[in-house]
Amino acid sequence: MKAAAENSDELAAIWDARYGASERLWSGRVNPILEAEAASLAPGSALDAGCGEGGDSLWLARRGWRVTGYDLSAVAVERARAEAARLGFSDLASFDRSDLAVDPPPESAFDLVSGQYLHVIPSQREPLYRGLAAAVRPGGMLLLVLHDIRDLDLGIPRPPAETMLEAEELRAYADGFSAADVELRPRAAVDRAGQPATAHDLVLRAIR
Ligand SMILES: C[S@@+](CC[C@H](N)C(=O)[O-])C[C@H]1O[C@@H](n2cnc3c(N)ncnc32)[C@H](O)[C@@H]1O
Repeated sequence: MKAAAENSDELAAIWDARYGASERLWSGRVNPILEAEAASLAPGSALDAGCGEGGDSLWLARRGWRVTGYDLSAVAVERARAEAARLGFSDLASFDRSDLAVDPPPESAFDLVSGQYLHVIPSQREPLYRGLAAAVRPGGMLLLVLHDIRDLDLGIPRPPAETMLEAEELRAYADGFSAADVELRPRAAVDRAGQPATAHDLVLRAIR
């Protein structure tokens, strides 16, 4: 995502171009923090916010979750739908194009709301993350995983700094939840020079 984009259409065009530049942008594997946090949950209804090509949604569907994936990019949504059909999960995993900062998801509707590396421009931050928190059903989990801003100092390719959050700001989106932890979790990465580096993810895990 380029920082220069200022509205939904520009952002969608940027993401469509990024997806359109290759046959597949992401690995298709579940993001490790979602895997770790959701593995012990009983399946229910899940929202995969900024679902991309649907790797996380399809992992959840395989475990019996009913998943709705939303993404700004029509190209990504088409790929996620095609993969769900190919794997026989179209009944459990559905995908729609949506700018979640403009059209928030239904309130109190999901047992799990997951947003993995969903970095947005500052004007979208408040409506988008608030909307995701509001979409969690009482007793459900909000799981937001973001790149940590300090990764930029290590020369690790990351979204623009203005799309990054500090821990306290992230935690504030779970105000009113019964449990809300924000922590930095390390993981192996590669810097711009191709050298091994330790990146950090900023993780909000909260129960409503
Ligand atoms: C870094 S990708 C992560 C994709 C997926 N979660 C994954 O981990 O493979 C961020 C995704 O968020 C989507 N996105 C960005 N802004 C969005 C918005 N306002 N509403 C919905 N999706 C958005 C992008 O199109 C992109 O697919």
